[in-house]
Amino acid sequence: MSNNFVIECLDCGKQYPYCPQTNACPTCNSSWGEARYDLFRIGKNLPAMLARRPFNLWRYRELLPLYEYNPAISMGEGGTPLIHAVNLGMMLGCPNIYIKDERQGPTNSFKDRQAAVAIASLKEAGITEAVLASTGNVAISYSAYAARAGVKLWAFLTSLVPAEKMREVAIYGTQVVKVTASYDQAKVVAAEFAKQRGLILERGARTIPSLEAMKTIAYEIVEQITALYSTDDRPAHQQNLPWRSPDWYFQSVSGGLGPLGVLKGFNELKSMGIIKTIPAIANIQAEGCAPMVHAWRQGLEVAEPIHSPRTHIATLATGDPGRTYTLLNQRMRQTGGGVFESVSDDETFRTIHILAKMEGLSVEPAAAVAFAGLIKLARAGLIKPTDTVVVNCTGHTMPVEKIILGDNWARNVVLPSQAMADTPEEGLLAALNRINADRFPRVEIADDMPDARRLIRRILQAQGEYTIYEANDGREAIELAEKELPDLIILDLMMPEIDGFGVLDALKSNPQTNTIPVIVVTAKELTPAENARLQGQIYSLMQKGEFMNDELMDEVRALVK
Ligand SMILES: Cc1ncc(COP(=O)(O)O)c(C=O)c1O
Ligand SMILES: [Zn+2]
Repeated sequence: MSNNFVIECLDCGKQYPYCPQTNACPTCNSSWGEARYDLFRIGKNLPAMLARRPFNLWRYRELLPLYEYNPAISMGEGGTPLIHAVNLGMMLGCPNIYIKDERQGPTNSFKDRQAAVAIASLKEAGITEAVLASTGNVAISYSAYAARAGVKLWAFLTSLVPAEKMREVAIYGTQVVKVTASYDQAKVVAAEFAKQRGLILERGARTIPSLEAMKTIAYEIVEQITALYSTDDRPAHQQNLPWRSPDWYFQSVSGGLGPLGVLKGFNELKSMGIIKTIPAIANIQAEGCAPMVHAWRQGLEVAEPIHSPRTHIATLATGDPGRTYTLLNQRMRQTGGGVFESVSDDETFRTIHILAKMEGLSVEPAAAVAFAGLIKLARAGLIKPTDTVVVNCTGHTMPVEKIILGDNWARNVVLPSQAMADTPEEGLLAALNRINADRFPRVEIADDMPDARRLIRRILQAQGEYTIYEANDGREAIELAEKELPDLIILDLMMPEIDGFGVLDALKSNPQTNTIPVIVVTAKELTPAENARLQGQIYSLMQKGEFMNDELMDEVRALVK
């Protein structure tokens, strides 16, 4: 393969050949350019080419800014799975939510795409030393690939980067420079260092391979969604055109390289006639550092920099997005539209628990920001139940950062040494009994629909520690309440045999159960007479389908600790 592509200046339109050392247009000196390919020719052959290749980022190699394909430093980057978020979808009333699991890249973040292509490009040009500034993940990914390629790397990390990430950068042999300042300031220091030493600098959206690498996410999503929604089991490249795109693409945003690249991918796919529509892009920022969100709300073309980010999510602390925001905003307006939204650190940390406990995905705070944004926008009604949504699950930090779990996340079993020596089993049993005695609030869920019970159980378990009992009809609900004396009953009204009203009557007439608080959850529109029947009998009434609000959890927390 020998690729044909050129760089087109975004300011004067001049086309010029790519060379990593060049960072300016030969005509107007602008440092903003973008790669252009012969999309007509590539588009015609793409399905046939894809049929022969494994599912990783290099299957799109004709659309990447490299002259030759050289798999020597590849570690299987790209090709991440698209996972159906069944439980999250049920909670939000949006059944078509899919997670693009970028944690499964070689260093566990979507930055592996960027590093793989960028380092391959440096290697191709014979460059052996490079400089970057990072909030952590870019440095980690680059370090891994630089190590494989024998490129010496200098990483300027803001001091806000968690120590775990700094150590991860160092393990690859990268020269770590900790800058006690903001990320934007660290970028200035790195740029000055690179200039003084004549070294090449990673410049985000202005680094051609970086932006191009990100677009492979769009290509993969389109192939995956197309296969999922086809009526037979065949992969996308065997399906007729046009292929499918999602209605929404969600991503956590710091500098905006990711969404800008992904949008370029969708645009190229449309230019090639492979897809017909471009998704709306939801860019989610951390509230304490959301310059793009502020600009978007005020209808500004240029984002005002944030000088002192106020968020614990250091990974997303780009205070000055510069022209990346301007381009992203313009292109969204010209294509599928979208939004810029922010979420608080607290919402983000809560979302980490929800994702882990409902979907089995442990993610880092920066990745959870996108999901917190999804929950917020779904609640606001912006996402329609029929919409297909893809969320970029951008990354995972190992080990879990302390701030997520607080102090009391483990229980200690201490075996008294004397008891152990005399009667080992007794000592062990006594210790285990102490764990059981560590009692969680006990909640009975009475509903004849298994899905409804499962959803309530998951919502409770995702956000707290509860012992849960389930009853699947009215009679069982009464018997279970009498036997277990739970701290709280969540009760459905419409059940066979004995309905919710009957259950309430039975509970209230038994002195053992008449003080147990009851939350009624129902899909039924109540008549005035039914409403009157519930008066004074229950703690609160909640409509099914409203679980996506925090209301249920607020009520539960108010009743049981
Ligand atoms: C895990 C994670 N998510 C999201 C982002 C945001 O990336 P960007 O806005 O540069 O696309 C980053 C950037 O470092 C990241 O590491
Ligand atoms: Zn120019």
